[in-house]
Amino acid sequence: MIVKKEFGTTSDGRKVDLFTLSNSNDMRVDIITYGAAVNSIFVADKNGEFADVLKGFDTIEGHEKYSNYQGLTVGRYANRIAQGKFTLDGVEYDLVKNEKGITCLHGGGELSHAVWKALITDDNCLEMTYTSPDGAEGFPGKVDFKVTFTLHEDNSLEINYSAVSDKKTVINMTNHAYFNLAGKGDILSHELMINADAYTPTDSASIPTGEIRPVEGTPFDFRQAKPIGRDIGADDDQLRQCRGYDYNFCLNEGDGPAAVACDPSSGRMMEVFTDLPGVQLYCANFLDGTRPGKGGEMLTQYCGFCLETQYYPNTPNMPEFPQCTFDAGEKFESTTIFRFSVK
Ligand code: BGC
Repeated sequence: MIVKKEFGTTSDGRKVDLFTLSNSNDMRVDIITYGAAVNSIFVADKNGEFADVLKGFDTIEGHEKYSNYQGLTVGRYANRIAQGKFTLDGVEYDLVKNEKGITCLHGGGELSHAVWKALITDDNCLEMTYTSPDGAEGFPGKVDFKVTFTLHEDNSLEINYSAVSDKKTVINMTNHAYFNLAGKGDILSHELMINADAYTPTDSASIPTGEIRPVEGTPFDFRQAKPIGRDIGADDDQLRQCRGYDYNFCLNEGDGPAAVACDPSSGRMMEVFTDLPGVQLYCANFLDGTRPGKGGEMLTQYCGFCLETQYYPNTPNMPEFPQCTFDAGEKFESTTIFRFSVK
């Protein structure tokens, strides 16, 4: 079932709607048209108690004033492009450098701050569309973006992304939900598995150096589930540089989940499936308790974790990474599924 209501109005007068998707297990997913954002996910714990497992905002003002991309759809190019530049067929594109005036982060935020058009296409399926003009944030091509959210009876939220450009361009879309399966406290005791034998270490601007480094014997080895907090403070240059995990993992191929997270106290579990080659594990490292989130509660370091399925950061400048350049008219399509259960 899908129910629509008004969520609010942006500071520049755009109306934002909220759609609540629910299934017969009473799982509930709130989606807003601002940033095509997943705003809340209510799931049961092992005793049948429901909690919202997403950190974020309950007002549009919160999203506008305090956001670190909580729940938002991110594109055209999720994550970073070094120096805000890349070259395609001999033409250099100069992008918005919205991170410290140096890098292009999350495509300049365009898709995340847009108000998307919504269409209910089935009793469990909501489609959102947005067209980005040619040259937006410096990227080539007018692109029609579509994100479809489907809530299934097995408690999975399926997100389908698609994009078609009228010029050759780069595309990398993700969702930036901050999960906390306990619904409160920090996520350091959550157990996490990531099906990745390697990750991409970065320079001080969080741009991959190009090395594909094996996780074996490092704090980045999540191949067997372990508490997120176990090695987060380890004596490791990469961890120190980002105050914890803020890295792209190179996913192993296969049909199983890319990642599985479990909060031992509530028993809530989440499996992540994707057809993309990477996932960014980010644990709200840079949140410092100065920004209010839902219910006025301050958003603190490690209050949530993100598993942003993606092409690797800076791919447009890294020919050896799996590529995400699409010809005019060629469709970008990708699916990520977050499946909830209890253990
Ligand atoms: C980045 C972080 C950043 C966060 C919020 C993540 O995808 O990797 O460095 O702080 O997004 O913008």
